[in-house]
Amino acid sequence: TPKDFSDLLEFSKSLAKSAGEVIRSGSKAILQDGAVDEKKNSVDLVTEWDVKVENLVKGEISKTYPDFKFIGEESYSSGDRPTLSDDPTFCVDPIDGTTNFVHGFPFACISIGFIYKRQPTIGVIYNPFLDQLYYALKGHGAFLEVPGYSNPLRLPISKARPLESLSQALLGVEWGSDRRASVIQKKANSFVRLAGDSKEVLGGKMVHSLRSMGSAALNYSTVAQGGLDSYWEIGCWPWDVCAGIVIALEAGCYVTGSKQYFLAHRDEEPLDLVDWDELLWGRKYIVIRAIADTATE
Ligand code: IPD
Repeated sequence: TPKDFSDLLEFSKSLAKSAGEVIRSGSKAILQDGAVDEKKNSVDLVTEWDVKVENLVKGEISKTYPDFKFIGEESYSSGDRPTLSDDPTFCVDPIDGTTNFVHGFPFACISIGFIYKRQPTIGVIYNPFLDQLYYALKGHGAFLEVPGYSNPLRLPISKARPLESLSQALLGVEWGSDRRASVIQKKANSFVRLAGDSKEVLGGKMVHSLRSMGSAALNYSTVAQGGLDSYWEIGCWPWDVCAGIVIALEAGCYVTGSKQYFLAHRDEEPLDLVDWDELLWGRKYIVIRAIADTATE
C-alpha cells in the first residue's frame, strides 16, 4: 500500500520528464529520417517510439514499485490486460497524440495516471515539445509547471470568465480514429450543429469555435487550465484519460461519461457518484470546466 502519495507523485513527474526526453529524440529521428514504422490502421498510428517509451516507463515502475499493476496502451495491445482491481495500478499512455508526434505537430505527451482503490488518484501529463508539465494529486489541487514561471501555476490559471451560454464557449472535439462513414457523419453533424448558426441549436447562436488538439490528455489539461470550456469524445481508452481525469477534477471541472449524467448530477459531488470502472472503460467522456448555473444547453 502506498503510504505517501506525494512520493508517488514526485516519482511520476520525474518519470514523465525522462519519457519526454525519449519522445523528443524520437520526434527528431522521425522528422529527420522520415522513419514511421508500424501502424494499427492507416489513421490509428503506433510507432516504435510508443513501444520504447512504454517499456521505459513500465520498467522503471516495476523496479520501484514491483507489486503495482500496470495498464498501458501498448501492453494492452499485445495482450497484457489486467482488470481494474483494488490494487495500486499505473495507467499509462506512452505517447498520447501519436498522429501529432508523427507529423511534428507539437501537441503530444506522456500521460501517467495512478489508480488507488479503483479511483484515479494521481495524474501527470507532460508535453515535451512545449515543456509543459501538468500534475495533480487527489485532494491537493492541480498544477502546471511551464517555462518562464519559477513556481507551479495552480489550475485553472485564469479566473475563468463564467459562461452564460454554450454560445460563448471554445469546445474541444476530436475526429478520432473510427472513420466509418456512419460514425464520422454523426460527428460532423454534431460539429455543424455547434459551430453553425442553425436556428434549432443555441437559439441560432453558435459556439465561439471548435478545436481538435489531437490528444485526449492535452484536451483534459487544457480544460483544466481554462483554455477550453469543454471536451467531449467517444472512443478513448483509460490510458488516454486516467491522468486527465485527476487533473481536471482537481481543477474544479466536471468529468462524466454521459451528458445526461452530467446534467442530472451537476449540483452534486461527481466524485462520489461516478462508477470508475464504467467511467474508465466506458469509452465515452465529457469534461467541462466549472460553468455558471445559467449555462444549461
Ligand atoms: C488518441 C488521441 C486522440 C483521440 C483518440 C486517442 P493515441 O490517442 O488522444 O486525440 O482522438 O481517441 O485514442 O492513439 O494518440 O494514444
